[in-house]
Amino acid sequence: MTSFENILYLVTDGVCFITVNRPDKLNALNRKTMEELGQAHHLALQDPAVYGIIITGSGPKAFVAGADISEFIGLSVEQGMLMAQAGQDIFKNLEHSAKPVIAAVNGFALGGGCELAMSCQLRIASDNARFGQPEVNLGLIPGYGGTQRLTEYIGRSKSMELLLTADMISAAEALQLGLVNYVTPPEALIPKCMEVLSKMKTKPPLALASIIRTVNAYYTHDQDGFSTEVAEFGKCFGTDDFREGTTAFLEKRKAVFKGK
Ligand code: COA
Repeated sequence: MTSFENILYLVTDGVCFITVNRPDKLNALNRKTMEELGQAHHLALQDPAVYGIIITGSGPKAFVAGADISEFIGLSVEQGMLMAQAGQDIFKNLEHSAKPVIAAVNGFALGGGCELAMSCQLRIASDNARFGQPEVNLGLIPGYGGTQRLTEYIGRSKSMELLLTADMISAAEALQLGLVNYVTPPEALIPKCMEVLSKMKTKPPLALASIIRTVNAYYTHDQDGFSTEVAEFGKCFGTDDFREGTTAFLEKRKAVFKGK
């Protein structure tokens, strides 16, 4: 077992389990965890014993409850843009992974957590999972590809609604919208991921990689949407509403936004 600070990395029977392991922070993605996610994925790609990857979260409550809000405090517009770009780069590598990656969504998948799940090739959710992009509550927008991928998966109308209202949806709704492939009871989540992944075990790895590249080619954004997201995410860091939104979250009170 390779050791990271915030990730559990385990290879068993050809499957690499990457578990985000900060359960007391609902597996929020701080910088270190993002870095380690990228490294763990890279390690799994390099390992000839691994044919598929499962990403999940530690504990019974959360897959990943978002980027770590405590690290947002004091960031400038430029630093916000750099953060979004770095996150987008890591998630793009997952999206274009040469080995299939399944997100085993075992609870809250919010903000960066929903974005992480959407970067995987498939998503299987336990019936207690909740999905959402609540960044607007913080005076922010998604920065790790959420505005683009959510729209691809569930269409413009529903994506607009979820992004503008910060509403969360249940696993059942996510299934109905086509955001997830299957919903299972919590105890059946990993077995279902293994079952689906095992169907790919004997398939030719180069053809699998080729399918992933080719399906992704259907969504050839000329990068404009993603670049717009980086710029707009950065701009949020220059607003009082962002300072109020993030501070209110950390102080466990309701934010009062002033529109500046
Ligand atoms: N960043 C940093 N810390 C987070 C976090 C995040 N995205 N999400 C949860 N946490 C922390 C909480 O601050 C709390 O830490 P503490 O025990 O040291 O105070 C701990 O995780 C447990 O979360 P808590 O809010 O007490 O759990 P809950 O069951 O009452 O609520 C959520 C669960 C998911 C609804 C709530 O944690 C939440 O809204 N999280 C933020 C979601 C979000 O906005 N994500 C997008 C970020 S860009």
